[in-house]
Amino acid sequence: MTTDAYDPQSHYDRVTAAWQLLLGDELHYGVFETGDEPLAVATAALTRRMIDGADLTAPGVDGHPLRVLDVGCGSGTPARAIATEFGVEVVGITTSGVGVETARARTAEAGVAGVTFEQRDGTANGFADGEFDRSWALESAHLMRDKAALVAECARVLRPGGRFVLCDLVRWREIPFAEVRERRDDFAVLRAAFGDAHFATLDDYEQLAASNGLVVDRREDLTAATLPTFDRWRANADRNHDAVVDLIGVDGHSAFVRSCDILEAFWRDGTFGYGLVSATRPH
Ligand SMILES: C[S@@+](CC[C@H](N)C(=O)[O-])C[C@H]1O[C@@H](n2cnc3c(N)ncnc32)[C@H](O)[C@@H]1O
Repeated sequence: MTTDAYDPQSHYDRVTAAWQLLLGDELHYGVFETGDEPLAVATAALTRRMIDGADLTAPGVDGHPLRVLDVGCGSGTPARAIATEFGVEVVGITTSGVGVETARARTAEAGVAGVTFEQRDGTANGFADGEFDRSWALESAHLMRDKAALVAECARVLRPGGRFVLCDLVRWREIPFAEVRERRDDFAVLRAAFGDAHFATLDDYEQLAASNGLVVDRREDLTAATLPTFDRWRANADRNHDAVVDLIGVDGHSAFVRSCDILEAFWRDGTFGYGLVSATRPH
């Protein structure tokens, strides 16, 4: 595998179809309330946390529907869900061309209006200042090295009074260089499975939001609630073994399963986990 294959754009072009079999329609972790619920219920519950953070029931300006920028939209399932439930207009962006094609095809098939998808980069999105009422990054930030640019762009496109919400994998502690060296095989497996990912702390996201003039009003640690996700992903990998191998090969399948074990251990020992922040752009 070349280094380029780890780049999130090529990585997501390669894994989008397999991810549906492994992660489900929504390409993100689940928030489990009982621990027994199906993965699809738990992934919808994470989207619900984002909805609460974004306050999608608020009226738009001058009677217009709220305009939401979905940064890192995957196959568009959360975008379609919020457009359908709240009547908001969503522009989903992703660097993956396969992601855009898949999201457009599924949206047409589902007959959902008010949702469009474009191939753009969340760290330089190209939209005008103040064009959106909401900016939303559901589990895409870890795939962007330049978190400062991501948050600055999310803040820039918000109109005054608009809201920003982000949830993602986070790092809870410093990882000394010696430990990175010692665990380099584990990190290589994570990279093979999930591409070039970098975890920031929840404090980093809060500080970036504040330094871009946003007022943070919610901060949630979802580490414990997301932990059962790994069991569900392993079960999906087992159940869909042959189809996943057809899509990403034996090595891809094996890296995914080993990654579940590695990440679960990191979740349990307090190294990595999951968090959410939301903030408002003041008037
Ligand atoms: C884990 S998936 C989440 C997808 C979607 N938000 C969901 O929850 O179903 C991460 C998404 O971020 C996208 N992505 C990665 N780097 C990006 C970037 N620099 N700009 C925009 N999207 C990016 C990937 O292509 C993918 O669509």
